[in-house]
Amino acid sequence: MEIIGDPQKLRKRLDELRVERGSGFQPPRAATVGLVPTMGYLHEGHLALVRAARQDNELVVLSIFVNPVQFGPQEDYEEYPRDLKRDTNLAQEAGVDLIFAPKAAQMYPEGYRTFVEVEGLSDKLCGASRPGHFRGVATVVTKLFHIVGPDRAYFGQKDGQQVLVIKRLVQDLNMRVEIVVLPTVREKDGLAVSSRNVYLGAEERQAARVIPDTLHWAEAQVRAGERDADRLREAIRERIAAEPLARIDYVSVNDGHELEEVDRIGDRVMVAVAVWIGKTRLIDNIVLEGLSRCGES
Ligand code: PAJ
Repeated sequence: MEIIGDPQKLRKRLDELRVERGSGFQPPRAATVGLVPTMGYLHEGHLALVRAARQDNELVVLSIFVNPVQFGPQEDYEEYPRDLKRDTNLAQEAGVDLIFAPKAAQMYPEGYRTFVEVEGLSDKLCGASRPGHFRGVATVVTKLFHIVGPDRAYFGQKDGQQVLVIKRLVQDLNMRVEIVVLPTVREKDGLAVSSRNVYLGAEERQAARVIPDTLHWAEAQVRAGERDADRLREAIRERIAAEPLARIDYVSVNDGHELEEVDRIGDRVMVAVAVWIGKTRLIDNIVLEGLSRCGES
């Protein structure tokens, strides 16, 4: 496994590997490349993406980059956990071919001034609480796609809004990459695995269970026939508020496409929440589909 920081070098090396690992038969075919973009401090959620990429592609590139432009000025850019050595070992075991781990100055050199914005989708939910966040995500993902030129790129449903922003980015800018989305990987008690879970103290970690528990409960309500979105939002708020260490950022019951809040739950719904547990902001969501076919009594 190789680790490269310089975008130009990565591109050159990948050009070589595409030929080496491609089919030598006539006509020659370049090896397919799967990209897994991450901010590192790898966990089971990331590794599930790597495994899927390994299965689908001849070459797997893992990017590890804590992207400064997606963090607000008061956010945790400096504190964000980093451990490249541990990440390298995990990536090696998981069968990554190449790690792209640039420095901030290699991605955003002096005088950098081009940004990508997916309008509308970027202002809602997490975008409302973190202005500029999705502009930063769309920009870095566009850069990664241009540097790596992947056939497929892998993202987790855990960041549901991010998935919608990236799918729209790829569609609107006619990018050639296929976006593959994998389900949220959870701890035994249901909490979504996240690099930020290391911020939680023991008591907070217990309190964080309110998030998956509430989403699980909401799913049961919808499956049992609840279609009144306001009533569901209110009930979710009450359940989360009952946990003293939790402070709600948002509770959204939306259409799962445009992130528009719905009045009545139709065939598809995304229930998404962001909750502060102490100083840690956690997000989670569930998407329920095919609701008009079942459950409604
Ligand atoms: P990061 O938070 O490191 O996540 C990298 C990828 O792993 C994302 O696609 C995310 O959705 C996925 N992921 C995280 N936790 C997961 C879980 N519990 N189950 C399944 N997938 C999970 O998301 C980012 O980095 C950045 O915004 C990035 C896309 C790399 C751009 O900087």
